[in-house]
Order: sequence, then structure tokens, then C-alpha cells
Amino acid sequence: MQVSKKIILFVSGGGSNAKAIYNYFQQFSSVEFPLLVCNNPNSAALTWAEEVGIPTRLVDRNNFREVGLLEEMKAIQPDLLLLAGFLWMIPKEWLQIWPQEIINIHPALLPDFGGKGMYGMNVHKAVKAAQKKVSGITIHRVNEHYDEGAILLQATCSIAVTDTPELIAQKVLKLEHFYYPRLVSQILGIEA
Ligand code: GRF
Repeated sequence: MQVSKKIILFVSGGGSNAKAIYNYFQQFSSVEFPLLVCNNPNSAALTWAEEVGIPTRLVDRNNFREVGLLEEMKAIQPDLLLLAGFLWMIPKEWLQIWPQEIINIHPALLPDFGGKGMYGMNVHKAVKAAQKKVSGITIHRVNEHYDEGAILLQATCSIAVTDTPELIAQKVLKLEHFYYPRLVSQILGIEA
């Protein structure tokens, strides 16, 4: 009997990446989602998670760093902690426990357009302002610096001069939803 792989999801925004990952793994019985951590009480991801039966933990600036959450996550013994549009820095002690297991997706081709303040539409506006012909995604391991961990995957999309930041965001989000679940599947050794 294969032991299930356990993924903890972290969301700040709409949660579309978390949904894409969850939906992708419905074809496998060997992956569980024991917890979704969210720092935004208005995120649609919270209601979605409750609908599909994923336990949720709403965090704020105080309890996010409290030992309670860390103990809860350690007890789960997760194989991966996936940041899916999660905007807070990960506490250093988490990185000591899970040096390889925390992964983030960034909606640009790091090291360009990364670091503090570079999230969501800010990224796509900066790509547009720089008149880039190509943008894309970067999936990387998380370390103690924003967007600087080892890069695991990059994928690109072409940008037309007429593309608005909103259209760039749409193109990039499509890449995210396609590649993030498939890279996670590879990392977990679960082949489709
Ligand atoms: C995505 O663009 C992701 O790359 C970035 O934040 C956005 C999250 O979108 N980190 P969602 O919450 O997954 O819909």
C-alpha cells in the first residue's frame, strides 16, 4: 500500500493555483491535502477549500509565526509545502525543518522582475513597461530571501506590443496552472 503524499497549500489571493493543483491530483488516490493556510480572510480559496473538504487555517501577522501552526504542520508530516500566490516571507525556522520541501511560483522569469513588491499585477506592469517580448513563470525552492531559491522550472510566453498587463497576466496564469501541478507530480514521483 503506497503511503499518501501530503501537500500543504498556502494562498493569499484567489487561489486558482491551489485549485489547479488540487484538481490535477484528483486522478490519483495517493495525494492528500490536509491543510490550506491563508492570510486573507476574503480569499475565495477559503470557501472553495471548505467545499472540497480541505481543512483551512486563516493566519494573521501574529499567529502565522506562533508555534501552534508550526506544530500543526509538523504533525501532518507534509511532503511538500506549496506557496500558491502566498505573499508573506516564510519563517526561517520553517526552512530549517523543510529546507527542500517549500516551493513557490512566481509570475515572471526570475531573477528579473522578482523580490519585494514584485507580485500580482505589479509584475506584469513592470514587464510591459520594460517592453519585454517574453514573460513567463518561475517555480523555485524557497530560501530565506524573496524569490531567490533554486529554480526548478521556467516556462515562457510571448508578449505582443499590444498586450496589456492584464493580458500578460492571463497568459502567465495559464502557464502556472499547467506547469505547477505537473512539476509537483514529478517531484513526488507520481507520473500521470
Ligand atoms: C499568481 O500569479 C502567482 O504566480 C502569484 O500570485 C498569483 C496567485 O494567483 N504568486 P492565485 O491566487 O493562484 O489565483
